Amino acid sequence: MDATASTLKSDYPWIQFPLIISAAMYPMSCPSLALAVSKAGGLGFITGGLNAADLKKNLEQSAELIHQVQPPMSFENGTLPIGVGFLLFGNKLDEVVPLVQEHKPAAVWLFAAHQIAEYATWAKAMREATDGKTKIWVQVGTSVDALEVAKICEPDALVVQGADAGGHGLQRSAGLMSLFPEVSDSLKADGLGHIQLFAAGGIAEGRGTLAALALGANGVVMGTRFLAAKEALIPTGYQDAVVRVKSGATATVRAGLFDNLRGPNIWPKGYDGRGIVNETYVDAEAGMPLDENSRLYAEALDGRLQQYPESGQSATGTGRLTMWAGSGVGLVDRVMPAAEIVEHTRREVKEMVGRLGSKCLE
Ligand SMILES: Cc1cc2nc3c(=O)[nH]c(=O)nc-3n(C[C@H](O)[C@H](O)[C@H](O)COP(=O)(O)O)c2cc1C
Repeated sequence: MDATASTLKSDYPWIQFPLIISAAMYPMSCPSLALAVSKAGGLGFITGGLNAADLKKNLEQSAELIHQVQPPMSFENGTLPIGVGFLLFGNKLDEVVPLVQEHKPAAVWLFAAHQIAEYATWAKAMREATDGKTKIWVQVGTSVDALEVAKICEPDALVVQGADAGGHGLQRSAGLMSLFPEVSDSLKADGLGHIQLFAAGGIAEGRGTLAALALGANGVVMGTRFLAAKEALIPTGYQDAVVRVKSGATATVRAGLFDNLRGPNIWPKGYDGRGIVNETYVDAEAGMPLDENSRLYAEALDGRLQQYPESGQSATGTGRLTMWAGSGVGLVDRVMPAAEIVEHTRREVKEMVGRLGSKCLE
């Protein structure tokens, strides 16, 4: 086991390699999803929600579920064997710190700060509140941000998010194939090669996982794949669409439209999000003005179209409501229990490593 793997094993004693992480996704990453992933030897993140009340509920529910696990999971330092993801613009630090201090998740995952310096403030507060027991992760999308975050906030881990990722990310982004090694090289060149690096964006099964490991990742994050987990907190129609969509390249798109539709965009400058191409997007491309599109969107959210299932969808099944998903969605063809997703992916990687051997050099 190399030094990073043994650090990981001591920070998160229940994990198995290759390490599969379920992304913090608001609002889908619920306690039962995160715990199922950790129980299967991965690391599951719950969402911190968009206010302290959401976080309190999710942490209390997680703690309750974790204490029911038999045989008990090994987490000797008193942390919960799950992480919590925070959208910095959506949470107030002074409200969430006491909850993190009380429950001590194994890790906090920070994302979407208005200014990079905010990550340092959050990291310091979380470390002090938990005596350093809760590890600090930050999700970044460029090597410049990775280096700056690494220097000012000394995170335990960086999640390197490529352009294929579902949900929000940087408008100006690149695919993992070039982004990941660039981040890794720039950290090493600055003496920061000890920071754990995880790859996110477009990874939905064993092949993507193995490719990310070959790029140097210490583990992989999957978001879109876990939208089709049995435990995910997701409307049925949305989950059906994730399973049904076949072409990640043409059926998903990165756009600011999905946020702009909802009124004032609450995301920090420079972010947009990848979602499934829907009627809203097609109409906008055909020239529908934003106010008309927003009106139709609000109507779809309203009353009888409240839910994604059936009623929210058109004959083509894409509807007007936003369904965040990454380009890996084309690889997701069934709903599975989260534990099976983790175990199946790990097994695929092991089988492929055995099969590849020296074959890749022939
Ligand atoms: C539905 C959805 C919601 C997401 N919500 C969040 C979030 O609340 N916080 C966050 O840091 N990332 C969020 N993300 C991005 C993930 O952290 C991660 O970068 C992404 O899912 C990885 O790419 P993949 O979807 O191709 O696996 C979300 C992604 C999706 C698909």
